[in-house]
Amino acid sequence: MTGSTQKWNPADYTKNARFVSDLGMPVVEWLAPKAGESVLDLGCGDGVLTLKLQELGCQVIGVDASPEMIAGAQALGLQASICDGHRLTFSNEFNAVVSNAALHWMTQPEAVIAGVWNALKPGGRFVGEFGGYGNVATIVAGLERVLSGYGVTAKCPWYFPAPEEYAKLLTARGFEVKEIVLIPRPTPLPGDVGGWLRTFAQSYTNVLPASQRQNFLASVVDALKPDLCDAAGNWHADYVRLRFSATKPRQD
Ligand code: BEZ
Repeated sequence: MTGSTQKWNPADYTKNARFVSDLGMPVVEWLAPKAGESVLDLGCGDGVLTLKLQELGCQVIGVDASPEMIAGAQALGLQASICDGHRLTFSNEFNAVVSNAALHWMTQPEAVIAGVWNALKPGGRFVGEFGGYGNVATIVAGLERVLSGYGVTAKCPWYFPAPEEYAKLLTARGFEVKEIVLIPRPTPLPGDVGGWLRTFAQSYTNVLPASQRQNFLASVVDALKPDLCDAAGNWHADYVRLRFSATKPRQD
């Protein structure tokens, strides 16, 4: 994972966002990995999906921009290294590149797609899922609304494209897009949205002095409650996933 002023804390991630890798199985299903294949897990986080691929018999390497997350992946015994997804340096090495819930942190998609292209062998697959157009729109609007009350603004740290836009980028680099879909997926949260905000929305909180951050987050939780919390007190995030499968043709 990558992203602006965001710092990753594996313990927070496990507590507030374990559902991210738990919900990653459709990507593995679309990848349909075969034992012995070489796979790059782009934005591998703490390596839970990487481990799954390894258990399925793949030779997997995980990369992630977060040293903390890579330490977590290495602690699982995985081959994983720190690398910004915009600066991949692999050449013609993998049967597949897979990415779950990470590409929205990489805001220069052309650079990412070019690195993936170079990393793949001819015939290799690029399969991923990430936040698509409209993802967490309610949460972003709440963050921006409450932040404006403090007289400051923050830059959105995420890239949430429509399928047509992402397909165009993939095609422009030479990929054949097999499938690409936008999937609204309201996602239950393990607690209130505060845990999600603390884990993921630091680009918004960090524009405020430390002394104001707790109140800011409490106000955002209050502002989001009517839209994201039901009468029984169950919270969800308004996730919209973009899932795709593309292939590098055997001949350029
Ligand atoms: C997502 O998985 O869609 C997501 C996670 C953190 C921040 C924004 C989006």
